[in-house]
Amino acid sequence: MDWRRKDLLEIRELSREEILLVLDTAESFKEVSKRDIKKVPTLRGKTIITLFFEPSTRTRTSFEIAAKRLSADTINISATTSSVVKGETLKDTALNLESMQPDVIVIRHSLAGAPHILSKILNSSVINAGDGSHEHPTQALLDLFTIREKKGKIENLKVVIVGDIAHSRVARSNIFCLKKFGNEVVCCGPPSMIPPYLDTLGVRVEYKLESALKDADVIMALRIQKERGGVSFIPSLKEYATFYGLKKEHISLAKDDVIIMHPGPMNRGVEITDEVADGPYSVILDQVENGVAVRMAILYLLLGREQ
Ligand code: CP
Repeated sequence: MDWRRKDLLEIRELSREEILLVLDTAESFKEVSKRDIKKVPTLRGKTIITLFFEPSTRTRTSFEIAAKRLSADTINISATTSSVVKGETLKDTALNLESMQPDVIVIRHSLAGAPHILSKILNSSVINAGDGSHEHPTQALLDLFTIREKKGKIENLKVVIVGDIAHSRVARSNIFCLKKFGNEVVCCGPPSMIPPYLDTLGVRVEYKLESALKDADVIMALRIQKERGGVSFIPSLKEYATFYGLKKEHISLAKDDVIIMHPGPMNRGVEITDEVADGPYSVILDQVENGVAVRMAILYLLLGREQ
């Protein structure tokens, strides 16, 4: 199939075929990062701007590396060092950047829907690198890629997502993505961090971590979203860690070949212990590595449609 979208805004709107196209394309790009000379000429002459209104280590860096490995030119803008601090609006910022003829604008913003607004006013392709508590589509795609790599399939798995589900764009994108492939998704966390609409998405809720983890194929631990008020929904981080922190003794409740995932950044000792994060079941750094290949695939598909 051909990729026909101008933008990548959310997982919810993607078909299974589109998701598989991203995964298969990423598979072919993963090898580029293993070469001595990690560069192919595919996007030579293209310009990619990353526009981040929230902090990031993995997403921003891997978009830049992905673009550079495809020979595109990259410009990184962080809101704190841009004219946003002088009062310029998102719309004016985006229109001024577009005047310089970029091909793609990658945006992260605390406002849910900010990438959708840009997609309506810009001719450049827009990629959502995380919008508020709404979606983080490229994270879900790299997570699915990692699951396929480690489990050999992306269907009929039991995936347990643990933590601050209510404020997590990673959880939402992963739920949409995993349910499209017929997986059993169980969300676990304190009642105050479980949004009321989960049953409408076909997700089962468990409040007791030990019950949730039984026979899990995949466990995803989530960070409490402090920047979205997450800590005010629990009595204390210590209590949260006691009841919902992933510890070594929890692993034996899951399947023997369980994988442990975390989108990062981790708060060690809160949602995950060192033993689990650094242990033999962890694929957390594989997720980061795969993020480059998946973002190369997305840039290629968005820009390739012009060629
Ligand atoms: N997973 C993720 O989005 O990490 P960053 O916030 O470091 O980009």
